[in-house]
Amino acid sequence: MNKTNVLLIGSGGREHAIAWKLAQSTLLNRLYIAPGNAGTSGVGINVAINGNDFESVKSFVLQNQINLVIVGPEEPLVNGFHDFFLSDELLKDIPVIGPQKAGAALEGSKDFAKQFMIRHNIPTGAYQTFTTDTLAEGIEFLHTLSSPYVLKADGLAAGKGVVICKTFGEAETELTDMLAGQKFGKASAMVVIEEFLDGIELSAFALTDGNEYVMLPEAKDYKRIGEGDTGPNTGGMGSISPVPFAGKEFLQKVEDRIVKPTVEGLRKDGIPFIGFLFFGLMNVKGDPYVIEYNVRLGDPETESVLPRIKNDLLEIFLATANGRLNDIQMEIDERTAACVMIVSGGYPGNYEKDKVISGFADINKSLVFHAGTSDKEGSVVSSGGRVIAVTSLDHTICDAVVQSLESASRIKFENSYYRNDIGKDLM
Ligand code: AMP
Ligand code: GLY
Repeated sequence: MNKTNVLLIGSGGREHAIAWKLAQSTLLNRLYIAPGNAGTSGVGINVAINGNDFESVKSFVLQNQINLVIVGPEEPLVNGFHDFFLSDELLKDIPVIGPQKAGAALEGSKDFAKQFMIRHNIPTGAYQTFTTDTLAEGIEFLHTLSSPYVLKADGLAAGKGVVICKTFGEAETELTDMLAGQKFGKASAMVVIEEFLDGIELSAFALTDGNEYVMLPEAKDYKRIGEGDTGPNTGGMGSISPVPFAGKEFLQKVEDRIVKPTVEGLRKDGIPFIGFLFFGLMNVKGDPYVIEYNVRLGDPETESVLPRIKNDLLEIFLATANGRLNDIQMEIDERTAACVMIVSGGYPGNYEKDKVISGFADINKSLVFHAGTSDKEGSVVSSGGRVIAVTSLDHTICDAVVQSLESASRIKFENSYYRNDIGKDLM
């Protein structure tokens, strides 16, 4: 059998985890990561191409006989990466894991996602959408709600577009800033005002070819910078999988009420979808509600989800590309994976880069995924806010977390920081 040449788009911890898993596949020939980081260069070949530069991707794919492309982040998908492949005579038969623009709108437009959920009876908070022209109506609508107020910029806003306000005054100011003040530029030309859902959050993941799907392990993400879930939001400071409060019965509800109707809804709406569905969920007294869709894997959820998957990931991707997902039986490690993210001092505000990172050689009981690193003059240096993810597998949350913290303490760079309380709420 001919082995597969894979191009993976992205440069974060999620992509290092995907690359690490793909590198174990017996079906793999060559693995390229564009642009990758100092970690992915250890399991594949980095190529200095930005995933939004479709023409450069095309040249590379054709010159290197790529047979499969996997898109890690949402931005190229929302920008039409997959559509570009399908509309090109030379690329159209090369499968892409990641939806076309129409499907990526589930993440790219909150208003589109809300309409989709309402149309297909998928449980989510009540909402209304407003534009600059209907700002006054938006303020009227806020009067009908009670605190806290949930405001969401419609478009992609680098994870900052959701604002939760405690008082009516804050909500009114925020809505005005978003709509009239273009706080998030074009992304906040429309704003969704949504019912506040009181519960515990978790992330569920499926991979679909638009007809069939497989469920991946669920995870809990720790979004705030500070211990005890305090301080500003980040991309994610750690993750735990599985999630103890998401038992069998709850996960069955997620599949029956949310995953199946989403895949069927896409089909009914005539929206092709090959790729990941990421369900940002709220568990409200044992019932799941969708707070957001993403069309990719989560970061740092991937760093705890993929280490639990025993299957060959490339085999799963090839089955997805060929419409044979039914053949896949997921095999999941029962143990708990705990991921702790080490970040740069100052993150999520302004942070310093180019700090030399040491200590990798001292770690043998955890997996180390690079999130924001690059190679510089023979050293690994920090190049992002989130720098290194450390994941450990063990039989209890406590043991897995303790191991990850012990390993994290060995990774050293100036002004590094990580949370010591990942998973504590679940123990
Ligand atoms: P998002 O960027 O959509 O992940 O939203 C950021 C955070 O806002 C989520 O992780 C939740 O903690 C919170 N959030 C979003 N929507 C709601 C909601 N309807 N009710 C309560 N919290 C929410
Ligand atoms: N960890 C949340 C996300 O990837 O959006």
